[in-house]
Amino acid sequence: MKTKENLEPIFETTTFWDFPTQNYGKTKHGDNKYSGVTPAFIIWNLIQRYTAENDLVVDPMCGSGTTIDVCKEENRDVIGYDIVPYRDDIIQCDARKLPLENDFADFIFVDPPYSDNLKYNDHPRNIGKISCTKNNYFIELEKVIIEIKRVLKKKKNVAWLIGDHWRSKTGLIPVGFKFYEILSKYFMPVDIIIVRRRNQTSNTSIWHYRAKKFNFYLRGFKYLLIFKNSKT
Ligand SMILES: C[S@@+](CC[C@H](N)C(=O)[O-])C[C@H]1O[C@@H](n2cnc3c(N)ncnc32)[C@H](O)[C@@H]1O
Repeated sequence: MKTKENLEPIFETTTFWDFPTQNYGKTKHGDNKYSGVTPAFIIWNLIQRYTAENDLVVDPMCGSGTTIDVCKEENRDVIGYDIVPYRDDIIQCDARKLPLENDFADFIFVDPPYSDNLKYNDHPRNIGKISCTKNNYFIELEKVIIEIKRVLKKKKNVAWLIGDHWRSKTGLIPVGFKFYEILSKYFMPVDIIIVRRRNQTSNTSIWHYRAKKFNFYLRGFKYLLIFKNSKT
């Protein structure tokens, strides 16, 4: 019988993805203690579809290094950047200015901060310190998108993982729709995947009780927006 620890990734064929755990297999992919860590299954599925062996994958905001671990195991070349590297194999860099030539990467994966709700670090250039209720949040992440456009090879793909935001004071900020629009200015849409959220901190009985009592919804999914570097 398969246990939680040795679950193997399944090649997804629909636009709804639901993973029981952050990790798969017997080795770690990223660190599931890192706030905002990406489910490794997502990156595994993306690189099966959009890359071949020895292709170069770039993750400009790679956090605990999930993209690096998945790509190495699948024989892809990989470069991971972060404003504050969590491990030695992550290069310190601001995602708005990548030290790469034009038309260099075969695939780019980004799981950016969704607002200022998680504390990643105190670096002044950490975009995760800007609330998505401020227009500046979208302006700064659009700079990352422009940089991705520059370094991604033509006709290659980028995947952007993002969640919406709701607070009683601000109401709904449809962050996913906003990024769909911004990304569409630079790239051709390929598809939208809905990824079920399972392990966020609000998945507790007290938060489910509050959601019912005060008539709001907890965030149940993220968008995985897939685009191609081509307008035709
Ligand atoms: C959602 S986390 C990424 C999680 C990662 N994919 C993983 O699996 O661990 C977002 C990351 O963006 C980084 N970040 C914020 N501002 C940045 C910037 N200007 N340049 C590069 N990285 C940045 C944060 O430090 C954080 O690690």
